[in-house]
Formats: sequence, structure tokens, C-alpha cells
Amino acid sequence: MQKSLALNVIILTAVASGPVPWEEGQERSHKLLLVSFDGFRWNYDQDVDTPNFDNLAKDGVKAKYITPPFVTMTSPSHFTTISGRWIEDHGVIHNMMFNTETLRKYSHKATQNKTEWWDNGVLPLWITAQNQGKKTASFHYPGGGANYSGQSVNRSLVEAFDHPDANETEWQENIDIVMNWFTQEDFDFVTLYYGEPDNVGHKFGPETENRKVIIQQIDRTIGYLTAAIEKYGLKDTLNVIITSDHGMTTVKKNPDVEEIFLAKHIKFSDLVKFDILDYGGFGMILPKPGKEEEIYQVLKNVHPHLKVYKKEEFPEDFHYAKHERVLPILLYGDPGYSVNGRLILYINKGDHGFDNKDSDMKTIFRAFGPSFKKDYLAEPFDSIHIYPLMCHLLGVQPEPNNGSLEFTLDMLNSAASGCFLLPIIVGVAIVAHLVVSI
Ligand SMILES: *[C@@H]1O[C@H](CO)[C@@H](O)[C@H](O)[C@H]1NC(C)=O
Ligand SMILES: *[C@@H]1O[C@H](CO)[C@@H](O)[C@H](O)[C@H]1NC(C)=O
Ligand SMILES: *[C@@H]1O[C@H](CO)[C@@H](O)[C@H](O)[C@H]1NC(C)=O
Ligand SMILES: *[C@@H]1O[C@H](CO)[C@@H](O)[C@H](O)[C@H]1NC(C)=O
Ligand SMILES: *[C@@H]1O[C@H](CO)[C@@H](O)[C@H](O)[C@H]1NC(C)=O
Ligand SMILES: [Zn+2]
Repeated sequence: MQKSLALNVIILTAVASGPVPWEEGQERSHKLLLVSFDGFRWNYDQDVDTPNFDNLAKDGVKAKYITPPFVTMTSPSHFTTISGRWIEDHGVIHNMMFNTETLRKYSHKATQNKTEWWDNGVLPLWITAQNQGKKTASFHYPGGGANYSGQSVNRSLVEAFDHPDANETEWQENIDIVMNWFTQEDFDFVTLYYGEPDNVGHKFGPETENRKVIIQQIDRTIGYLTAAIEKYGLKDTLNVIITSDHGMTTVKKNPDVEEIFLAKHIKFSDLVKFDILDYGGFGMILPKPGKEEEIYQVLKNVHPHLKVYKKEEFPEDFHYAKHERVLPILLYGDPGYSVNGRLILYINKGDHGFDNKDSDMKTIFRAFGPSFKKDYLAEPFDSIHIYPLMCHLLGVQPEPNNGSLEFTLDMLNSAASGCFLLPIIVGVAIVAHLVVSI
């Protein structure tokens, strides 16, 4: 009796304390493809014919929408998806890399090979998975071209500066390249990125025929992907997640509204040392020494649709401002109100960067493959929870992160979620046995 009690306690402890969900091995044989279409607003498929997206919903999981992190911008949001960490933790706080001493700024594309912008102590999933014996690759995915703690992604293609965004033939070729990586070179995890529909959304605006046309091109590409998975014999071994980084909203302009235009209210040369403005719905200012209070007091009341915060007062639930790279004054506009600094650029008809609670900033989540339920409509969740889901699907022990498997477990079919539930069931059974024995 005494002996069996001791034994039970040992078993129970082992079951409860180990990283059991990721060591059961049941998911080992499944590969994972993460596809991101930049700037795909949650409802872009609802006013245009998208037969392949519709089939995908029948064949897998569709979330009503998902919420990206704040700031709703490409590099910061993609890095949250691949790391499961809030932006204030991973430090990729903007698309642009900048240096407040040299006053230099680097474009989104120029940052892609710059390890110093991405590698701030938080490991993305590629590296974590590689360290646990998986083979991983990044095809144009933001952050895939950097090194992390001295390690590079096993295979990484970085978008060239002159890369065409909407060449459908090239999109299909990229799918074939990735399929070959899985089948001929046995890669376990690949991230594949496309720069649309973001570009079209910016250039023409989200409520246009042009946007509907690019969504149909994406839909055909989804059809190409599902056919390729079949053709390459990956249907039973490959899980696929299709998502994006943020939505898009129409920029509000004169004379419909009074635009936000900071140079009307402050003299930049007197007060501002460095700024990142004129970049959609969000901006930051580094005041000249001693000028912070003056800038803040002037700007906080200049426009009814402009929110102005000191860094330390920025709402905590954005999980954004804590990082040391964030400048002392933060500004964001209500949806559609771009934060214009020294000039008003009339280029973008659509933009993002706004509050992630705004419905136009929400984005998509689709998933299918051997681990996912079919014809399942999932409730909305935050994109930060994609990371623990990917770890689970790959059988990889996650790094500390801010996501939870709890929000996506319902999407998995019983075989896939079973490996998570099994230890709990065993644990309960042992406890029951223990109680009976006593
Ligand atoms: C990144 O590095 C690769 C390989 O050296 C190079 O081909 C590519 O042009 C670089 N891309 C950018 C955006 O600097
Ligand atoms: C990554 O590390 C390798 C090996 O040290 C180096 O050759 C390469 O230039 C580094 N790449 C980047 C983008 O820092
Ligand atoms: C992938 O990279 C890891 C280091 O991150 C390395 O240990 C491993 O050997 C690489 N695998 C292959 C197949 O190149
Ligand atoms: C599109 O991509 C294909 C395949 O890479 C290439 O052959 C073709 O020239 C490209 N078309 C344009 C218009 O750039
Ligand atoms: C996010 O996760 C990290 C690592 O576990 C933790 O240090 C941090 O406090 C978390 N952030 C929040 C807001 O919970
Ligand atoms: Zn964009």
C-alpha cells in the first residue's frame, strides 16, 4: 500500500512536470507551412468571388478574424507571429530601422539583412526548431534573413529591392520551390511571404476594384497551393497556416476631413531631434533636450482624431511602449487619419498602423492539413497565439512566450489535440487511483 502510493506520486510528478505536450511524438511526422499575405484585411474575401478560399474553409479551419499586435505594421507583426512575443519584448518596433545618433533611417527592405535590428534576445521559431533537430526555411518572410544568437535560418531567401510584388507566375514558382524543399530536402518548417495585397491596398485603397482583382489573384494562388500539395503527395503530412500581419483602411483626406499635420503646430527645427512620422497611422518623436513637455502639451490637443502619449503613459494593453527603442512621444490617429509631420504625402490611398482594436486592422487566419478539423469556424483570437500552435504542430518545445495554446486547441482534430490532452487524462486517472488506494 505504502509502496504503491509512493510509486503513484512519482508517476504523477513525472506526468505533471515534464514538457509533456511536446514530447509525446505524435506530431513528429507533420511538417508545417506558414504562408503570409501582407495586409490581408479580415473581410477581403467577402465582397469578391473566392472559390479556393471557400474550399479551404470546408477543408479546414477559418477564424472569423484575428487581431494583430500594436503597432499594426509588417515587420513588428510578423515577428510577433514567429516568436509569440509582444512587440515591446522582441524589439522590432517599426518597419524602419533607425539610429537617433546618426539620424539614419533604413527602409523595411533594407532592414531584412540587418541582424542588429532583429536579434534582440528573442528567438524566432526557425532557430528554436533548428536547435531541436528540425530543418527550417524562410522564403521572403520578414526577419528570416537575420542571424539570431549567431545562428542563421537553415535556408533563407531575402526579397530583393526590385522584387515584383504581384507576378502570379513567380508566386506559383515559389510554391513549387517550397514543395521541393519539403519533399526532396525534407524541410520540416517553411515560412512563405507575399507582399500583396498590401501594395495594392496602399496604392489604390482597400475599397476598390483593384483590391478585388488582387484578392482573386491570391485566391487562384491558394488553388495552386492546394493542387501542389496534392501533386507532391504532401496532403497527409503537411499542415498549412495562412495568415497575415494587419488590415488596411482608407486614408481620410482633405477636403473630406481636416488632416493631421503637425508642422502647422510645432516648429520641428526648434523642438524635434528625430522623428518617425509620415508613415501611416502611427508616429514617434524624440524631442530636443528639455523640449518634451512643450511638444506634448502643444500636440495633445491639436486634432480631435490624434492620440498623443508620453512613452511612460502609453496604454499598457498595447504591449508596445516598454522597449528601449520606443521614442519618448508616441502618436496615433483614429482609423484613416494618417500622422503627417512635416509634409502631407498624397501617395497612399490606404494605410495601417492604427489601433489594433479597430476592425479594419483585423486580419485573416486559415489552417488545414492532417491535424486540423474540417469545416470549422473558429472564434477570433490574437495573432500572438499562433506561435504556441505552430510549436505544438511541429513537436517543438516553445521558448517563453506570450501566447497560449488554449485559444487554438479547439481547431485541432482529436488525434492532434489528443497528444496534448493525454497527459491530463493520465494524470486524472492516476489521481483517481491514488484517492481509491488511500
Ligand atoms: C540580402 O543578402 C542577400 C545575400 O547576400 C542579397 O542577395 C540581397 O540582395 C540582400 N537583400 C537586401 C534587401 O539587402
Ligand atoms: C550570419 O552569420 C554568418 C556566419 O557568421 C555570416 O556569414 C553572415 O553574414 C551573417 N548574416 C547576417 C545577415 O548577419
Ligand atoms: C540547421 O541549423 C542548425 C543551427 O541553427 C544546425 O545545427 C543544423 O545542422 C542545420 N541543419 C541543416 C540540415 O543544415
Ligand atoms: C514573372 O515571373 C516569371 C517567372 O519568374 C518571369 O518569367 C516573367 O518575366 C515575370 N513577368 C514580369 C512581367 O516580370
Ligand atoms: C511575455 O512573456 C515574457 C516571457 O515569458 C515575459 O517576460 C513577459 O512579462 C510577458 N509579457 C506580458 C505582458 O505578460
Ligand atoms: Zn503596408
